[in-house]
Amino acid sequence: MSGDAGAFDALLSEERRFSPSEEFRAHAVVADPGVYETAAADREGYWERWARELDWFQAWDRVLEWDPPYAKWFVGGKLNVAHNCLDRHLDGPRRNKAALVWEGEPGDVRTYTYWDLHREVSKFSNVLRGLGVEKGDRVAIYLPMIPEAAIAMLACARIGAPHSVVFGGFSPESLADRINDARAKVVITADGGYRRGGIVHLKANADEAVRLCDCVEHVVVVARGAGITGQGQVRMEEGRDVWYHDLMESASAVCEPEVMDSEDLLYILYTSGTTGKPKGVVHTTGGYLTQVYATTKAVFDLKEDDMYWCTADVGWVTGHSYIVYGPLANGATVLMYEGAPDWPDRGRFWEICQKYGVTIFYTAPTAIRAFMRWGEDWPGRYDLSRIRLLGTVGEPINPEAWMWYHRVIGGERCPIVDTWWQTETGAIMITPLPGLTDTKPGTATRPFPGIEATILDDVGGETTAGYLAITAPWPSMLRGIYGDDERYRATYWSKWDGVYFPGDGAKRDGDDYLWILGRVDDVLNVAGHRIGTMEVESALVDHQSVAESAVVGKTHDIKGQSIAAFVTLKEGVEGTAEMEATLKQHVADKIGAIARPEMVVFTADLPKTRSGKIMRRLLRDIAEGRAVGDTTTLADPAVVQRLKEKYEEEGDA
Ligand code: PRX
Repeated sequence: MSGDAGAFDALLSEERRFSPSEEFRAHAVVADPGVYETAAADREGYWERWARELDWFQAWDRVLEWDPPYAKWFVGGKLNVAHNCLDRHLDGPRRNKAALVWEGEPGDVRTYTYWDLHREVSKFSNVLRGLGVEKGDRVAIYLPMIPEAAIAMLACARIGAPHSVVFGGFSPESLADRINDARAKVVITADGGYRRGGIVHLKANADEAVRLCDCVEHVVVVARGAGITGQGQVRMEEGRDVWYHDLMESASAVCEPEVMDSEDLLYILYTSGTTGKPKGVVHTTGGYLTQVYATTKAVFDLKEDDMYWCTADVGWVTGHSYIVYGPLANGATVLMYEGAPDWPDRGRFWEICQKYGVTIFYTAPTAIRAFMRWGEDWPGRYDLSRIRLLGTVGEPINPEAWMWYHRVIGGERCPIVDTWWQTETGAIMITPLPGLTDTKPGTATRPFPGIEATILDDVGGETTAGYLAITAPWPSMLRGIYGDDERYRATYWSKWDGVYFPGDGAKRDGDDYLWILGRVDDVLNVAGHRIGTMEVESALVDHQSVAESAVVGKTHDIKGQSIAAFVTLKEGVEGTAEMEATLKQHVADKIGAIARPEMVVFTADLPKTRSGKIMRRLLRDIAEGRAVGDTTTLADPAVVQRLKEKYEEEGDA
């Protein structure tokens, strides 16, 4: 578990409380405190009421079929996600409302009304069909944060082709692994994207990736424009690669949405686990859309005239559920920004908030801690008075960052929703309801109505400090791991009987609020990105000079955690500063820059038990500079002392 127990005990005695203002309460989407009881008394009926707010081509016969660990929601129901996000808004005043307001990092701006977006998505759906993509075929999307990312996702949903979006920061090899695992037929990429003034050459990465895949028939390339396109750096392979704009030019804007079963696959999204191989988390159609729709509306208190901004990347689940599907299913106006928060200066986010009159702002604690570090002057230069609700997601938020967010960004008037959920849960699970819940800095508070969560010990007994557990199926739950049913059962359903194990530690306080403490498995959370220690270890031992490695998380002021790698080099290789730099770069090349270790410590031996198991617990103690725990089971206890001394020396250097 990350963090230490003492600090969390201090958290639990948090006395500060923030109630929603009378004004907020009076207009809140959810204002009835009885909602929790009503939902608990008839969970299926509760979710069914939300589902009815969507458009179904055919109603369901049964709300839920639960054969643990397999759930089916809205059984027999037929619908299409893109139809719900677009077509159904075209018959009323939303037709000409801005659906997507996009700003590129260099400052280029594009706005799509619901009408425009529907047209673009329909055209691109026809483009995909023209390339031979049929219902059930997988499509990989490797794009920057540009409107075409949302258009491509919605087009896939429209024709029933499950997408697999791969974050643009991943390396060619990571992209290839994901393309191959899903056997994607088409890859959609761009000539480049902007990040901190530089250009990320996605097409070049995609070329390298596709070379490692035998399933890809076509690569569709979006011309990003704004100085990238036209540089002549993109190599197009004849017969395989096609320009997006060429195909769109002649595509028809009429495309009937595919009639999808409620349980048809909507997308696969890869996330890190405790082995070296990422898991393809599977989400289906009806239940997923119902819960992302419901939570977007209730948790963000979404109103017709809101300007909603979620700063996540579409490559992560937050971007799927709370940039694309949830908000558009609600007919919201979504702001999307391509680039970095500190480009050209550290006021960029606040400049955007002012410029577009952002009313709802959803970001990650790691970003908030960076803003804090940069100082209040930056937000202080802009008018943020339109913001009325703030959200956080991705990791536990420390009370200090929460208070800063509340005071400096929220002007002490905005409720903060600290939302706990995961790639696997698909949608928000534990969260305040902004018009009802008294919030306290650092806690995600209570399960959303209709969600059953508690804290259990190893044997499944209720406790106040232990593992977070989800005790009943929920509509947007993952339906499996793509192609690996055994792993699905083993990872999430083997700890307790019929109860979902998310992999997080948690505590309950006297108000019955849940405090999520972080991962209890070998998964790190670096700047809100999930990275498996095993993935980094495999990347390290892949280098010719490395004999063995062990990777642990280390508390980091801004990123939450950073990566510390302990490495044993092969005979005759020296642990120089140059070697350290080489290995860090090697990991970045293999996985992506997000996985670059912050420090590499060379050691002749790793602490191992007599049976040869590396004791990561001790390495974590060393990395955190804590007193090292029990070493009696070690084959050679002196290893730890040597390592500790070495670590401290290098840390001081
Ligand atoms: O450890 C929890 C942490 O992020 C993990 C899920 O990561 P991922 O699947 O990448 O999804 C992130 C965005 C939904 C969880 O197991 N986490 C997420 N939100 C919170 C959180 N930890 C504490 N508080 C949160 N609000």
